[in-house]
Amino acid sequence: MNIYVKKDYNELSRAAAEEIKQVVGKKPDCLLGLATGNTPIGIYRELVSMYRRKEIDFSRVRAMNLDEYFGISLNHPGTCNTYLEDHFYRYINIRRDNIFRLNSEAKSGEDEGSRYEEIIGKIGGIDLLILGIGLNGHLGFNEPGTSFESPTHTVNLTDITKQCNYQLFGTVDKMPEYGITMGLKTIMKAGKCILMASGEKKSKIIFKALKEPVTTEIPASILQLHHNVSTYLDCESSKLI
Ligand code: F6R
Repeated sequence: MNIYVKKDYNELSRAAAEEIKQVVGKKPDCLLGLATGNTPIGIYRELVSMYRRKEIDFSRVRAMNLDEYFGISLNHPGTCNTYLEDHFYRYINIRRDNIFRLNSEAKSGEDEGSRYEEIIGKIGGIDLLILGIGLNGHLGFNEPGTSFESPTHTVNLTDITKQCNYQLFGTVDKMPEYGITMGLKTIMKAGKCILMASGEKKSKIIFKALKEPVTTEIPASILQLHHNVSTYLDCESSKLI
């Protein structure tokens, strides 16, 4: 695993976006898997700026979200779908039919998971997956205890995840109970992963995930076993490693 420590959030966002630009440059029809949340906002901002400066072209890029809430309308302001539209897709020249979404309104989580895995397989696999890390070590919505063999699947969101993510839903009790996420097996099959963390509050979990033994209790620790991971940290999130 390559670990890059940057001065601050802006620098880590720029450096990670630069690596994504290289991947897209080398493979213009690559498949990107995209996290949401606070951490990657800077990356999407940088990628949009690069696009405006004509440094990157998304016209053949395929993109899909890493995870989604389940059991709510896809157009709800809190969905990962809405987030990716608002922070990324609407500003770049990606083709609408090259965007693949987890359907938060699907009747069966199992069928939806299989549908998503099929899409990934048909395209030929995820080339680059952008990941954040939860305070409990979750990756996507893979909460502690998730099997390393898991494909895309539905999950019961934990209280800690609800407390961290409720802003777009108003209050914690309005948070969806369920999510659907690429599984840890799906994540491990990606050609490359970019993991990002920013701020002191992530320093303990970054230490556990990167420096302590791999365990299902810290889902992100599985990335120690991935062959191609770039981790971008700022000084604060890296202070214990
Ligand atoms: C979101 C996701 C989550 C977040 C994690 C960190 O799509 O997959 O695993 O990456 O909860 O969230 P932030 O960046 O808001 O701290």
